[in-house]
Amino acid sequence: MRILVIGSGGREHALVWKFAQSAHTLFAAPGNGGTQREGAINTPIAADDIDGLVAFARKEKMDLVVPGQELTLTLGIADRLRVEGIPCFGPDAFGARIEGSKAFAKEIMARAGVPTARHAVFSDANAAVDHIRANNAPLVVKADGLAAGKGVVVARTTMQAIEAVNALMGAVGNRVLIEECLEGEEVSLLCFCDGRVTAPLPSAQDHKTAWDNDEGPNTGGMGAYSPAPVLSDADLESMTDCFIRPILKELSTAGHPFVGVLYAGIMLTSEGPKTLEYNARFGDPECQPLLMRIQGDLARIMLDCVNGCLDPASVVYSAQTALGVVLAAKGYPNAYSKGLTITGIDRAEAATGVKVFHGGTILRDAALFSNGGRVLCVTALGDSLRQAHKAAYAALEKINMPDGFYRKDIGMKGIRRLEQK
Ligand code: AMP
Ligand code: GLY
Repeated sequence: MRILVIGSGGREHALVWKFAQSAHTLFAAPGNGGTQREGAINTPIAADDIDGLVAFARKEKMDLVVPGQELTLTLGIADRLRVEGIPCFGPDAFGARIEGSKAFAKEIMARAGVPTARHAVFSDANAAVDHIRANNAPLVVKADGLAAGKGVVVARTTMQAIEAVNALMGAVGNRVLIEECLEGEEVSLLCFCDGRVTAPLPSAQDHKTAWDNDEGPNTGGMGAYSPAPVLSDADLESMTDCFIRPILKELSTAGHPFVGVLYAGIMLTSEGPKTLEYNARFGDPECQPLLMRIQGDLARIMLDCVNGCLDPASVVYSAQTALGVVLAAKGYPNAYSKGLTITGIDRAEAATGVKVFHGGTILRDAALFSNGGRVLCVTALGDSLRQAHKAAYAALEKINMPDGFYRKDIGMKGIRRLEQK
């Protein structure tokens, strides 16, 4: 197949890497140093240039287009490609609003009866501040629109919540949500969807904050592993019944059957599991460990989703654990430098079961430089979570990037849980 992957992060490198194993002809737009090393043809079309992407897919006769990130989906790439008769693994613009508008997601959740945090929506900053003063911190303030992982502030004090309203209102759309703060452990539930039928991927856990012990600002994700012992395989189906199938039914009834990956971010609270958010695509970095475990031809599974004939039994995973640690540029998620030299990837990948996925990298004359905040995701397979953790950190030690940083505790919540048993 001729496959176009849209985006330039670690997730998109992982998608290209997986497709390359089945000998497909690969294109990435715009791609990164990793997609290029994998043999994909990088094409400098931005992920929000829908006209450019559709024209390219038509000209190059793509058999499958896989948008990695939410922006391309919310801008309606799937609707446009459908008109062209080009298979696109991703929801239409209506379905992508489940991620693109948190207020819309809350409406769908209410109709579908999905448990989630109590919330209120404001388009007036003063009203939002009055609401904050009338309710006790901690509170969570969220921009309604897309914010690349930076639109959520978990405010521990009233003052922080008010500052968050002022920072987010206007900067990202013109509405904010104020939510009750949920306490508990988070888990990511991702499912392949063909509009009607869904096949859950194994559980995964992300690490959202920049620093160890879940401290510091929220990021796009600093590391992930799968499976996450906090959600056992035995519970996957009941969680899918609770968080995914009712949403698919709602979207289908609305005339927009959801095709692609539907991702529920779930908090396991003392009152039971509740949704934090939905995403309309693979998570980054959850995608990297998940794709290291999935067996067979991923493009086949995706085409079955597009064609409405997904067979959950055809989706098979290795029993091993995979764990990925993000190496970021110092300063991320705030200001950081680009152009840092990266060496040692070959040495890191010399160990069996290790794969270094590139996020913000660029190849110049065969030398590799950083080109973004999350630069690499060093991912390893192991027979246990402890072993995968050890292998990923050992690989990371072999990589050199001045002014990089990473979390030292990826997977530790899971390891503690397993070792307490
Ligand atoms: P979201 O983009 O909505 O998933 O939010 C990003 C992160 O913020 C989540 O993964 C949580 O760590 C945190 N978060 C979001 N909503 C809440 C909430 N209601 N209570 C506590 N933490 C939250
Ligand atoms: N890792 C979380 C996300 O992709 O939204």
